[in-house]
Amino acid sequence: MSQPSRLTVAVVGATGVVGRTMVQVLAEREFPIGELRLLASGRSVGRIVEALGRPIEVAEATQAAFEGVDIALFSAGGDVSKELAPAAAAAGATVIDNSSAWRMDPEVPLVVSQVNQDDLEWHEGIIANPNCSTMQLAPVLMALRDGVGIDRVVVDTYQSVSGTGADAIAELEGQIRAHVAGEPKQARVYPHPIAFNALPEIDVFLDNGYTKEEWKVVTESRKILHLPELRLSCTAVRVPVFVSHSEAVHVETTRPLTPTAARKLFAEVPGVVVQDDPTSHEYPLATTAAGRDEIFVGRVRQDPSLDGDRGLAFWVVSDNVRKGAATNAVEIAEALVERGWVRARSRRAARPVGAPA
Ligand SMILES: NC(=O)c1ccc[n+]([C@@H]2O[C@H](COP(=O)([O-])OP(=O)(O)OC[C@H]3O[C@@H](n4cnc5c(N)ncnc54)[C@H](OP(=O)(O)O)[C@@H]3O)[C@@H](O)[C@H]2O)c1
Repeated sequence: MSQPSRLTVAVVGATGVVGRTMVQVLAEREFPIGELRLLASGRSVGRIVEALGRPIEVAEATQAAFEGVDIALFSAGGDVSKELAPAAAAAGATVIDNSSAWRMDPEVPLVVSQVNQDDLEWHEGIIANPNCSTMQLAPVLMALRDGVGIDRVVVDTYQSVSGTGADAIAELEGQIRAHVAGEPKQARVYPHPIAFNALPEIDVFLDNGYTKEEWKVVTESRKILHLPELRLSCTAVRVPVFVSHSEAVHVETTRPLTPTAARKLFAEVPGVVVQDDPTSHEYPLATTAAGRDEIFVGRVRQDPSLDGDRGLAFWVVSDNVRKGAATNAVEIAEALVERGWVRARSRRAARPVGAPA
């Protein structure tokens, strides 16, 4: 299928933590951009952002802003996505949405680039990028699913403040300064001070006692892995780390698996790096994963609480802003271009992208 050499790309939420990183990742990976539109709220209109080596003026994200756009990367929260993604798709753009607005819609593919890229084929103009905690978990679970089968997963997360956005980063910095100055710590973004603390509350509480973040890990993992019955439980904890989420994962496998064989399975997944040498204190760290696109796995060991070598415990770390959001969105965009699926499935036969209207 013919593709245009250059696409018109919009980034919605271009002034935010994820949006700015999306622009950076698009440039780093030399995504074929003809025109780049940077969109945000009315507050940012006229702001000049340096992107692709030139200054670009930020415009307001409105329905009209998507005219002529091929791919729109959304990262401005669920309300904006609910309102503007259908309008962007109706205008012919393909939306890759970072919010939770569309993830569990059965008509919307939810895609981790190295796990279920084939699901992109049936998109109808909106594609969802998973939650950052699910993103780094799915490729390693895929390795176990395909290698030995998965019966049950328990995951506890240690999530950085950048996962909440720019205001939360400023809040942690402010509380650290206040602590050093001996002043009271102001908490506005989180219900308690995050500095020197661990908060077992991410997103709102649901009727079942889990938080929405924890429940996203359950439901999104099932959808991405095509395991609708997967038994999974999660406790999500916010910790005073700036970038990268860490996860302690316990898996009950269907067939026996040694740690050595598990490391081999993990290392075979594109974008997964095994760092596991306890004798030299080598294991994944938030600080070393920050700024990287890979998912790091270590501390792989047999879980003796399960019989027959069917229990595996390990530690997974990844940069939540890059692979957890921006990089995966750009990888989806790259896959759409490579496979000729930039347009929605129902529009593809009618008019390949790049063909005259
Ligand atoms: N941070 C992460 O690790 C992460 C990971 C996965 C998914 N996400 C999701 O990505 C989204 C953004 O997260 P973030 O961390 O980048 O947040 P952020 O730093 O707070 O940035 C929010 C962005 O949204 C824009 N925005 C807010 N209200 C808007 C409106 N009414 N119309 C248009 N634009 C509006 C803001 O523009 P102004 O500057 O003009 O206000 C800003 O560009 C959220 O849905 C979040 O759940 C984040």
